[in-house]
Amino acid sequence: MKIQINDISLAYSDEGQGPPVVFLHAFPLNRTMWVPQVAGLSDRYRVVTIDLRGHGESDAPMWRYTLDRFAEDVHGLLAHLGIARATFVGLSMGGYILFALYRKHPALFQALVLADTRTTADTPEAKAARFSMAQIAYRRGVSAIADLMLPKLLSPASWEHRADLRDHLRAIITGNQVSGIVGDLMAMEERPDSTPLLSTISVPTLVIVGEEDLASPPEEVESMAKQVPGSTFVRIPRAGHLSNLENPGAFNAALLTFLTSLENSGL
Ligand code: MLT
Repeated sequence: MKIQINDISLAYSDEGQGPPVVFLHAFPLNRTMWVPQVAGLSDRYRVVTIDLRGHGESDAPMWRYTLDRFAEDVHGLLAHLGIARATFVGLSMGGYILFALYRKHPALFQALVLADTRTTADTPEAKAARFSMAQIAYRRGVSAIADLMLPKLLSPASWEHRADLRDHLRAIITGNQVSGIVGDLMAMEERPDSTPLLSTISVPTLVIVGEEDLASPPEEVESMAKQVPGSTFVRIPRAGHLSNLENPGAFNAALLTFLTSLENSGL
């Protein structure tokens, strides 16, 4: 499905009935990275997945990408869908966007799930690497970005043995446009340090990390979890950065346990 939000056409899926759960994808992917979670949850929950601007079937304008703008797109879509409160799940860049959304619209949050993400801002070296990657995208196109990103997204074992996953992810990445990929890089490069936000989060929070995540080291993610009052922290075995795809069984089990606990506590 598509709607016009903030001057662009935004693609999303809305499946199932029940308490709403909204998923935000990682860089440089799209909403199809959540297929195992849609399958695992949509018999009990209303599952919304979104192609963020610049990705998948959404428009990829040539300018003005910021995490706040991504967050406003999500806010606009939820208003259109009549969803006043939801549980939000964001993986990596999806998590960065959730920090922006929480800062601006905390009342939207029933609960928060942060997967394989970080609060710290980019170091000067990381900013320089974003710039280099943008130049590669302009000069050599999206398949060069897939070559660079795939080994970072998967655990070494998945990278070596999961040809199905590699091919699926390559197809997702190369289905994006250069403008969207460069837009993400600019938005992420400018993001603030969200660490001070953690102690102010007042909704139930689950923090997940793949045990072999190379991009968001598990120790860093665990320390992030410790700063969110009352949060639950879960390590996903046999998974790297894309823990939801590399071990969907364990990821969905953690998510369902968390969602069930919310219902049992009357939230
Ligand atoms: C992601 O998976 O969204 C990226 O690793 C985020 C980043 O590059 O900081």
